[in-house]
Amino acid sequence: MSARGNFSSRIGFILAAAGSAVGLGNIWKFPFEVADGGGAAFVLIYLIFAFILCFPVMVTEVAIGRKTEKNPIGAFNALGFKKWNIIGKFGILCGVLILSFYNVVAGWAFGYFLEMIMGNFGIGEAFGSFTSDIVKVSAYAIVFMFTTAYIVSKGVSGGIEKLAKILMPTLIIMILSLVAYSFTLPNAIEGVKYYLVPDLSKLTNVNTIGGALRQAFFSLSLGMGALITYGSYLSKKENIVSSSAMITLFDVGIAFIAGLMMFPLVAYNLGGEMSNVQGGAGLIFVTLPGVFETLGGTLGVIVGGFFFLLLSFAALTSTVSLLEVPVSYVVDEYKMKRTKAVIIMSAIIFIIGLPSLVGNGYSEFFSNAFKLPGGSTDFMTLVGYITDVLLMFGGFLIVTFAAYVWKKENLAEEISQGYPGFNDSIIKKLLNFCISYLCPVVLALLFVVVVFNNFFGINLLG
Ligand code: TRP
Repeated sequence: MSARGNFSSRIGFILAAAGSAVGLGNIWKFPFEVADGGGAAFVLIYLIFAFILCFPVMVTEVAIGRKTEKNPIGAFNALGFKKWNIIGKFGILCGVLILSFYNVVAGWAFGYFLEMIMGNFGIGEAFGSFTSDIVKVSAYAIVFMFTTAYIVSKGVSGGIEKLAKILMPTLIIMILSLVAYSFTLPNAIEGVKYYLVPDLSKLTNVNTIGGALRQAFFSLSLGMGALITYGSYLSKKENIVSSSAMITLFDVGIAFIAGLMMFPLVAYNLGGEMSNVQGGAGLIFVTLPGVFETLGGTLGVIVGGFFFLLLSFAALTSTVSLLEVPVSYVVDEYKMKRTKAVIIMSAIIFIIGLPSLVGNGYSEFFSNAFKLPGGSTDFMTLVGYITDVLLMFGGFLIVTFAAYVWKKENLAEEISQGYPGFNDSIIKKLLNFCISYLCPVVLALLFVVVVFNNFFGINLLG
């Protein structure tokens, strides 16, 4: 086991897993999904899903990983259910696809950091020409992938855990200072209202519900075995339930705080006219540089640079988790050296990411050619839609597997290690109910609803 590596402490595991969870999904995606999904109604549904549907999936993933001490494919083999390793196969594929585009956006964030410290606030209006400047964005994407690869090559405790221990506390301090700052701006309160006072009529909207579930899975890094992998490095002494609760709270908390930071900034920019909020991927890349500019030269450079550095840090602790999954697979199953595995995997993933890299303006084809019910879209958006539904389906399969194939007693036995009172606790009853009934049923239904809505334009919720 020590040849694979281990987290050196409970807090190391929690910070690394929270680092995986907290990323572009929280700071870039969550606010614009809130804006697209109808404001506070989305936030409410998102919170409910995170705790009752996602948290049980997280506990299950970590338990499967820790029980087997294996990657997502090897884990199902080790439990003796080889056919079910299809979950791991799709999971690894899904992780590879996510990292392929995620790295591109992470590169933008890093590029924006450089633009900000050079005082180029015009970059917001020039977002389109920025993303189609192939030389620049390729360079940033390469730098980002290289950094990710370097950290993963240093191993679990020496690379991933160490990075998380430095970056996660830094991130919290940075984001809280930005919230405090954004609250001092004119019209901040309009932004907060938009964010926190729900329009109840939107609660049954298919885009709100589907979007909230997709976002919750993505943000918590669930459904593809990232947490099976991290769980496989966790000591038997640790309490899986309380650790998972901390990770969920951490992630949801940071997303929530990111919204508290973002909407006052947006409100400031729009002069309080929140009906003019534009969602979409451009929300932070287009809107924020303009906000930073109005702060004036030096202050704008500081706050703007700070923000995009924060975003790059958050992205980095997530990209390492995404790369670790396929790396752990080849290290376990093909006995490959970690460094070699890292080089091969990061190169493959970078290449798979090329269509996403050129599909934001540079290549006409990859920027528009893909037809979805909502209209033509770019390659990156399409892959994001596909991986989102794969994650939900993966989550469905993981809980179904644990409840009915591997069996609840075995799951409970693994959880009891590090949590001796588990078998007599109410938590066990609640968890069993979620894993056996609530999660499989609701996830299956919503999976169908989202697929019909997003790929066929058919709204099953009426
Ligand atoms: N959760 C990360 C974010 O919010 C992204 C991420 C990292 C991820 N690892 C994952 C998403 C595994 C799904 C699966 O930015």
